Parts: sequence; structure tokens; C-alpha cells
Amino acid sequence: MASLRLSSLLSGSFSASLFSLGRNSKFGRGISRFNTAASLEVPVTPSVQINHTQLLINGQFVDAASGKTFPTLDPRTGDVIAHVAEGDKEDINRAVAAARKAFDEGPWPKMTAYERSCIIYRFADLLEKHNDEIATLETWDNGKPYEQAAKIEVPMLTRLMRYYAGWADKIHGLTVPADGPYHVQTLHEPIGVAGQIIPWNFPLLMYGWKIGPALACSNTVVMKTAEQTPLSALYVSNLLHEAGLPPGVLNVVSGFGSTAGAALASHMDVDKVAFTGSTATGKVISSLASKSNLKPVTLELGGKSAFIVCEDADIDQAVELAHFALFFNQGQCCCAGSRTFVHERVYDEFVEKAKACAMKRVVGDPFKTGVEQGPQIDSAQFEKILNYIRSGIESGATLETGGERAGTKGFYIQPTVFSNVQDDMKIAKEEIFGPVQSILKFKNLDEVIKRANSSPYGLGAGVFTKNLGIANTLMRALRVGSLWINCFDVFDAAIPFGGYKMSGHGREKGIYGLNNYLQVKAVISPVENAAWL
Ligand code: NAI
Ligand code: MG
Repeated sequence: MASLRLSSLLSGSFSASLFSLGRNSKFGRGISRFNTAASLEVPVTPSVQINHTQLLINGQFVDAASGKTFPTLDPRTGDVIAHVAEGDKEDINRAVAAARKAFDEGPWPKMTAYERSCIIYRFADLLEKHNDEIATLETWDNGKPYEQAAKIEVPMLTRLMRYYAGWADKIHGLTVPADGPYHVQTLHEPIGVAGQIIPWNFPLLMYGWKIGPALACSNTVVMKTAEQTPLSALYVSNLLHEAGLPPGVLNVVSGFGSTAGAALASHMDVDKVAFTGSTATGKVISSLASKSNLKPVTLELGGKSAFIVCEDADIDQAVELAHFALFFNQGQCCCAGSRTFVHERVYDEFVEKAKACAMKRVVGDPFKTGVEQGPQIDSAQFEKILNYIRSGIESGATLETGGERAGTKGFYIQPTVFSNVQDDMKIAKEEIFGPVQSILKFKNLDEVIKRANSSPYGLGAGVFTKNLGIANTLMRALRVGSLWINCFDVFDAAIPFGGYKMSGHGREKGIYGLNNYLQVKAVISPVENAAWL
């Protein structure tokens, strides 16, 4: 099963396989289109037990030092799923001390690389074995479609862990030729204790993108999960210990950003911090890191990615892909194609078809088969998105479809499409992070390049054309970290991901992800007899 799922992912059809979810109409019972949301009212009861709600420090599940807990909510209803230990500064101190000891005294960095690799491989096997329970937790806490979690995201996490398990015993330095009678070599060494702060939109994938390279390079970790989605990381971290991870190597502290997160970013004994989330919080973390011990920071931040449809594009395919690029994961993607630029000659046809596509989108309880869109993560995001929709209407964009909440409970929003969007409108400039597509018109290539690049963000872009010359021009001209040509959101463990400009710095995944967790030591020693150089 899992290998079948993986093979469809690995064939490069991540987007296609996601796309096919719910696109044919075999399903239908108990599912609501966005305009008839009756079945949203009776949520499916998830069949998984929540065993881990405490902090994970030094290999033990423990209460917060304060004894405090916070509720994590079900976005389908706003009801409490569980109360989770609320970590704060003192818990971060305990977790960092455990990670420091595990790094300085071992056994983790002192094991053979092969032993570390085997532990990570065993973890991947356990992820595969528990795929469906993990996916259930992820959907319950986050609201994403279960089919997406079970068939795409958990298998991707498994694949990513195997990718980095494979790297663990292949990390080594170089022998460097130098001018002079010296033998010169480089050692590629772990940085030490890594602080990692992750968001709620892909809780498990962000967990994997962070811990995979950190562990492969034999660092130890303190992770602060997002307050909206603490459950799945605790569950899988328990499996990682079952796979043989020594205590203290990975510590997981649930809690809030301004308390636990800030304490981690500013901790003097944390050697590096990696963050995914908003640009505003990225700036705070960067400043906390520099004000404390100047720890290096990698940041994966917001975006306003352009999706450019040229006049020669296959319009039906472009419409489907632009729809997927924006609406996937309830629109809660840092690289969402949230500025759909369409050439004026095909604009009207594109808008009509994009509207029809959005109206067909299946909104409903994410546990129901065939549902493409679940609820937004929480009331703050829900309100923020509805405000953006109001702003779009007030600024004169044409509301083609959607525009309101779906159902009466939870945080569901109708798939929404705006046409006649202008560059200076808030909906075209700011990250909405919701199911709201903005379609803009362009006349020629130079113009669209300038407009696409005028954003302070530079995370991703999509280009849709059959003309190789145009594709190559756009490939060079667009200032973004990921460029998808005639595809979108194709992710793979080996493909690096990260942003230009205010979308952050550093790259995660692939060989590039290792650089964030290694430092290079140059070792120089004289050769006694230069004749043997
Ligand atoms: P956020 O960036 O504030 O939160 C992300 C993580 O940072 C969470 O774990 C949070 O607890 C932590 N955090 C918050 N303040 C912190 C601080 N002062 N020090 C250390 N850690 C801190 O994002 P939030 O509030 O959940 O969402 C706001 C907006 O951010 C969204 O509407 C969206 O536009 C964007 N966002 C972007 C994401 C991405 O993948 N790039 C993911 C999540 C949100
Ligand atoms: Mg939740």
C-alpha cells in the first residue's frame, strides 16, 4: 500500500495525485458542495486514541513545570480535542539542558553514522506502520482532508526520513590542495543544539523537514510545535524513541510563540534556530537570535506567489492547476499561487472556467471520502480571511463566487474567486492564507515579469506555456526560490525549498538542507618533507 502511494508521489505526480482526490464524482453521499453545507454539522468521530499530551523532555513525557495546559481545538467545530502541557521558559531551559547533555556527552554524536542511519530508517518503518493513526491525528488537529494526510503527507514524511537516513553515513569533508607544504582537510561537523519552531499548516511535514537533516548531521534538537497543532509531533516522536533514539536527542515542547518560542530563539545554549511561519514572526526570531548569541537562523516565511498563464497555454489544464495551486490545503500554503496572472487574450475564458472549478470544489468534513476542502485552522485565520474577502469587494474586485463562511459551525470558508484584481489591492499584495483566488490580467511578458517581481516576497512561482523560449525567459527572470513550469507544488525529499527576498533565507530538503546543520572545520598540518606533497 505505502509503496504504491510512494511510487505515485515519487514519479513526480504529487500535484496530479492530490489533484485527483475528489475530482471524479464517485463520492457524493454526505458531502456538501460549498453552497449546501448541511453535512458539515455532523462531524465524523475520529478513531484514534490520544496518548501523548505532555512535553517530551530527555526521552520522558512530562508535565510543564508550571503545571499549565492549553486546549487544542478541532477546526471542524471549535470544540476541544485535548488539553496539552503548556511549555514555557523553564521547560525550554530543561529541554535545552537535555539536548546539550545529549550532544556533549553522547551517545548520539559519538555513535557510528551507520547506527544513526539505522535508527532513522527504523523510525520510517514505524511511520509506515502507523500511517493511518498518524493521519487521523493530523486531520483532527488541523482540519486537512484525511485522504491528503493519509495518502500524501504521512508517506512524504516517511520518504523524507528515509532520504535523510540515507545521508547520515555519507557526510564527510574534503581534502583540499593548498599552496605550500601543508596537508589540508575539512571536517563537516554538527552545529550542536538546534532550536526548531514550526507552524500549523503542515505540522508533520514541517517537523520532518526540520528534524530530518538535523538528526542526519548528528545534532540534537529542541522543537517548539505550533499551539494549534501539537498532537501529531508528540505521537511520532514517541515512535522515534521506539526506533532507538537516545534520550535528549529530540525534545518537543508544545506551547505558545511569545513564551516558549521566544525562549528557544533567544537561548544562549542553542546553537542554531530554524523557523517556518510568518514574515513578521521571522523578523522577531532573527532579532532574538542575534541579540542573544548570534546563532545562525534559517527562515522559511510568507509568500505571494505568481502563477502566470500565457496566451498559448492549454487553458483547461492551466485552470485546474491554478485552482490546485491556490486552494490546496485550504489555501494555507506559504507558496500558494495567490496571484493568478492571465494573458488578456485568454482572460475571460480563464475566469469563467476558474469560477466553475471553484464552484465544484467539495467542501466538507475532512474525514469524509472525497472531500477536497476542510475548515481553516482557527477562528483567527477564519476572521482574517473573511476580512480580506471584504477588502477585495470594497476595493472593487469582482467577486465571481464564494465570499462567505460555509456552514454555521467551525471554520469553513467557501472557495472564493475574484477577477479584475489590481496590483495595488490588499488581496493582491498581502498573504491571505485561505481559499481566495485573485485573477489579474496582463498584456505582455516584460510587464508580467515586473509585476510578478514587484512583491517583497519571493517564495515560488508557476509558469504555464508551451513555448520553451518563454518558459526559459521566465525561469531566469522571476526572483523566487521555486519555479514550477507547467506543474505546481511538486515536492520531493531531494528538491530544495526556500525563499528569495522577504520569504526568508536558507534552503530546506535535499542536499541543501544539510548545510543548515553542519559547520566546516579546516584542519591544516605541515608535511615534513615537501618532496611527498
Ligand atoms: P506565526 O509565524 O506567528 O507562527 C508560527 C510559529 O511561530 C508557531 O509555532 C508560533 O507559536 C511561533 N511564534 C509566534 N510568535 C513567536 C515569537 N515571538 N517567538 C518565537 N516563536 C513564535 O504564524 P501564525 O500567527 O500562526 O499565522 C499568521 C500568518 O502567518 C498566517 O496568516 C500566514 O499568513 C503566515 N503563516 C505562514 C506559514 C508558512 O508556511 N510560511 C505558516 C503559518 C502561518
Ligand atoms: Mg488543533
